[in-house]
Formats: sequence, structure tokens, C-alpha cells
Amino acid sequence: MTPLFRRQRWPLLAILTLAICFLLYRSPPSINRQVPPIGKMLPIPPEKEGLYDTELRETHGAAQSPPQPSPNSANTVTNLDSDDLDAFIPPTHSPATGTSPAALFPHPTYTPGIPKPANSTYTRTLVIPKTSTEDVSWAQGLLSTDPHLTLAVYDVSHPSSPASGLHAIPQNKGHEVMTYLTHIITHYNNLSDITIFMHAHAIAWHNNDLLLSSSAALVSHLSSPHVVRAGYVNLRCHQDPGCPAHIHTSGNRKPGEAGRQDGEDDANRPEVAIFAQVWKEILPGEALPEVLSQPCCAQFAVSRERIRALPRERYVFFREWLLQTPVEDRLSGRVWEYIWQYIWMGVPELCPVESVCYCDGYGVCFGGEDKYQEYFAKRKEAREIDKSLAEKKEKGQKISEAEEKRLRGRIDMLTTEMEVLRKEAMERGKDPRNRAKEAGRLWKEGDGF
Ligand SMILES: *[C@@H]1O[C@H](CO)[C@@H](O)[C@H](O)[C@H]1NC(C)=O
Ligand SMILES: *[C@@H]1O[C@H](CO)[C@@H](O)[C@H](O)[C@H]1NC(C)=O
Repeated sequence: MTPLFRRQRWPLLAILTLAICFLLYRSPPSINRQVPPIGKMLPIPPEKEGLYDTELRETHGAAQSPPQPSPNSANTVTNLDSDDLDAFIPPTHSPATGTSPAALFPHPTYTPGIPKPANSTYTRTLVIPKTSTEDVSWAQGLLSTDPHLTLAVYDVSHPSSPASGLHAIPQNKGHEVMTYLTHIITHYNNLSDITIFMHAHAIAWHNNDLLLSSSAALVSHLSSPHVVRAGYVNLRCHQDPGCPAHIHTSGNRKPGEAGRQDGEDDANRPEVAIFAQVWKEILPGEALPEVLSQPCCAQFAVSRERIRALPRERYVFFREWLLQTPVEDRLSGRVWEYIWQYIWMGVPELCPVESVCYCDGYGVCFGGEDKYQEYFAKRKEAREIDKSLAEKKEKGQKISEAEEKRLRGRIDMLTTEMEVLRKEAMERGKDPRNRAKEAGRLWKEGDGF
């Protein structure tokens, strides 16, 4: 039998493998998380709403969306304090990576926040890292309808000399993490009630399907009292990808290994290989959890109280790690996708029930998880019919006109029913009592959301 690696050949094979890995893992110099791009995502046509969603991401591709037509065609971002730039102080010392008491994670006691009285307003800041080719006019559009919203857009293409109205970051490294931490560090003493951290895309598969994958809809429907109560809210309600049990710190499970999930391999989850090492550096002295998870893609809202539960120095420490780490940019950003819930909720896994996330978080209330699942069962059926029709066509298989008409009619019916359910859910969510009920919260007359 020939040995798999002959002695004289293995160095060559190793070099080849490394080279291939390098090429495969190299990411474009964008701040956005990329799923392996398969196709190009198109703007969402109103009549096809719901099409660009979670389940279709495999076929419709990357998180990136093309520039959206701007409603007010403004190119400059308004409502920013350009003074903020002065606040950035470049780090002068290396991060403490030892386990000296000063380096230890402070373990705040996370107490649930108390919302303001019903009908109060909340100040909110929307923090977005933006490359020069990205368009955030969707976010500017929100300002005209929400007087309590402020934009803080960071120019990652020109980190130290940002375009007019945009903010600076020390270096374009670590994707969105650099922007998020920089905003916290510079605004630690004057944060809005709520800070919403998002990417620049107007439409993205990793937004919420029932809000038509729209970023503007996420912001406008997001319940401020919900964020204040929870302290930290991942904006994505759909658990996949990210939940459950996304990161196994002992390594990705091999094909055939018990409990292995779809896509759980080194190509899809390259961050797993470095997680244990990086954890020690970011959170020195903290026991490494076996599993970490939360819905993917690093978009979330955090209350002022929750951000300030950690001292400002801790965020400086985190950012210095990011500035100093030799870990490849894309991976250092990915690792953080599974660290935020730990630093702000103190838990390695945070996978809220989807229907509750939608109802209490955005006022899309189906009346329970079962009802919520009914919607998705209809969607699944419609998609399966559509797929089988397409496959038949592709293979040149005959289908009678009557049969095709029947099947198309079924798809139309399901689509109509789904839209009715969705509209009813939005209506139900307007009553704060319904939200409390679905979330299992006490509610009494006079309480708000
Ligand atoms: C918040 O604080 C930063 C840093 O001190 C400052 O530059 C900025 O103008 C302040 N913003 C507001 C809205 O007060
Ligand atoms: C809040 O506003 C709603 C709608 O305007 C109103 O029905 C409700 O009574 C108000 N609640 C309080 C406590 O003021």
C-alpha cells in the first residue's frame, strides 16, 4: 500500500495546502462580513417582498447590497458632530495580555433595565461603518421621521481623514468591530439612551425576513423599551446561522461526527480554529466556554446602562487587542460576532425564541411560536412547489397546462395567506399588551411596550 504522504513529498503538499487555504480565506478589503458570494443581490422589488431572505441567502448570495436609490439623494451625512474626531486618542501602549488583575474582565452584575414611562421618547444613535462605495442614504432617510435619532457614520475607507460629516477610526482593521468600539470609547460619557450598531447595506439577507430584509425597517420598528429591558439585543431574530451552538471552541466537528451541523467545517467557520487562543487574549482569565452562539452578523442595539456596565478602559483594552493582533482581519472580526453577547449579557449562548424576538422586539406578533411557524410552513410549501416546477422545466419534463395552473394557483394562495398573516401580526403588535403576553412579561393598564 502506498503511504498517503511520502516522506519527500509532504512539504510540497503542505505548502500547496497552505497556499490554497490562503487564497480561499483571503477577504476583500471591506468592512462587511461576507458570506461566500454566490450571486449578486438585487434591490428588493416591492411586489416580490420577502424574496431576499434568510433561506435564499445560499442562492442569492452575499450580504452586500448595491447602492439603493436614495429618496433624498443626499450624499453627505447630516446630523453628525464633527467635533467627535478630536476625541480619538491613538493608543500608545501595548495591550495587557497577561492575567494581572487590571487585565481581568470586570464581571459586572447585569441587571435588567427599567423602561421609561409609557409613550416616553428615547434618544438613539445609529452607528455605521461605511466604505467609500457604500451608500447609507437609507439611514439618512430615517432622520426626517425620527427627531430622536442621530447618525454616526465612520469612514473606514479614509480612517484618519474621513470625508466631511463622517467620523474617524484609528485603522481599518477588524471590520465593524473597530468602528463599534471606537464609537463607544469616544462617546462613553454622552451615549444616547440606545446605540444601534449596524452595517451599511440597505437590504441584507441577515436582516429580518418579516421586515423584508430592510435595514431601515429594523431601526424604525425596533422597540426601545425592549432594548432597555434586555440591555443588549441582537437585531437578527432568525437563529440560523449562529444558533444554536455555532462555535465549538474545541474545533469544528468532522463529517460523520455526532451533532455536526450544516456548514460546520473549517472552510465555513475558520474562526473556530483560532477562537481558543484569541479568547485568552481578549478575555484573559476567563474560562473558555465549550460553546458560543448567537444569531450571526454583528448587528445589535445596546442600552447606555449596559455599555457603561463595563468601564471605558475595558473597551480601550479590546480595541488595542484589535489594533495589535496579527490575526487576519476577517477572522478577528468574526470572532467578535460571538463575543458581544458574552461581554454584555455575561452568557456564552444567546438564542432567543424567534417569535418572541419579532414580537417584543419589533411588534410582529403572530400570537405564539406555533402561529409563527405556520407562516414559515406556508412559505416552505410555496417554495418547494416553485422549485419543483423550475426543475421540471429545466429537465424538459412534461407537465400538463392544467397541472401547472393548479400548482401556480396554490403558490399564489399561499403567498396571499402569508401576507395576511404578516399584516395581522404587525397589527397585533401595535398593542403593548399583546407583546407582553407573547414575551411572558407582566403587563398592567398604563404600561407601555
Ligand atoms: C460627545 O462626546 C464627544 C467626545 O467628548 C464629543 O466630541 C461630542 O461632541 C459629544 N456629543 C454630544 C452629542 O454631546
Ligand atoms: C400612550 O399613547 C397611546 C396612544 O396615543 C394612548 O392610547 C395611551 O393611553 C398612552 N399611554 C399613556 C400611559 O399615556
